[in-house]
Amino acid sequence: MSAVIVAIDGPSGTGKSSTSKAVAAQLGLSYLDTGAQYRAITWWMLNNGVPVDDAAAVAAAAERPVITSGTDPQAPTISADGEDASGPIRTQEVTSSVSAVSAVPEVRTRITQLQRDIAAAAPRGIVVEGRDIGTTVLPDADLKIFLTASPEVRAARRSGELKGKDAADLATTREALIKRDAADSGRKTSPLKQAEDAVEVDTSELSLEQVIECVVTLVEKAAAQKPEAAEQAAQ
Ligand code: DC
Repeated sequence: MSAVIVAIDGPSGTGKSSTSKAVAAQLGLSYLDTGAQYRAITWWMLNNGVPVDDAAAVAAAAERPVITSGTDPQAPTISADGEDASGPIRTQEVTSSVSAVSAVPEVRTRITQLQRDIAAAAPRGIVVEGRDIGTTVLPDADLKIFLTASPEVRAARRSGELKGKDAADLATTREALIKRDAADSGRKTSPLKQAEDAVEVDTSELSLEQVIECVVTLVEKAAAQKPEAAEQAAQ
């Protein structure tokens, strides 16, 4: 298969991470979780006394942390200033602050550049998951996918991940999810938005295996349509 750049966007709870990792692993591609990068910079700001609700303070600090992502889909890593951030970026404190930090244009410019550098360096291609990959980060991606699911399904999946499954947990998760989606979709700089040329996959009624199979098929088709693939086939 020729090297392919795949952008997978969509709100949380659509199975984006599990799908992206599995597709990359199955096809021998690199994998980048861009949400983890925004979470890592948020964690760094919280640790370094930057008031995350003060956009000017966040902007002034945006260039300071060194954010590093390991792109093996079987064992992705994320660190800030050399410190493993994979555990702390999933805490409630980071989750509730990440929308504010990721809305700051200076943060987006910084992280977008990192993402482009990582994608350009991936030897066999990469699956990049996020919110603005198809629209802003990699507008020339070979394939753009937009994953969706109903708010009920997304909240249930997130609660399952958090291992709390009672009705109150579900209602709280649903509220938090809707609030974060609204913030991510409503921000001025590269909001969560489906690219015009993205393929929409509604995962509400599909199992994870079915979503993975569907995306793998789309990636293989996109790879086969690349000019290099056509040249190789003609030789
Ligand atoms: O995918 P996630 O829930 O880990 O993402 C965390 C936050 O990061 C999300 O609320 C919005 C932000 N984000 C973003 O603004 N742009 C991206 N490409 C990825 C994530």
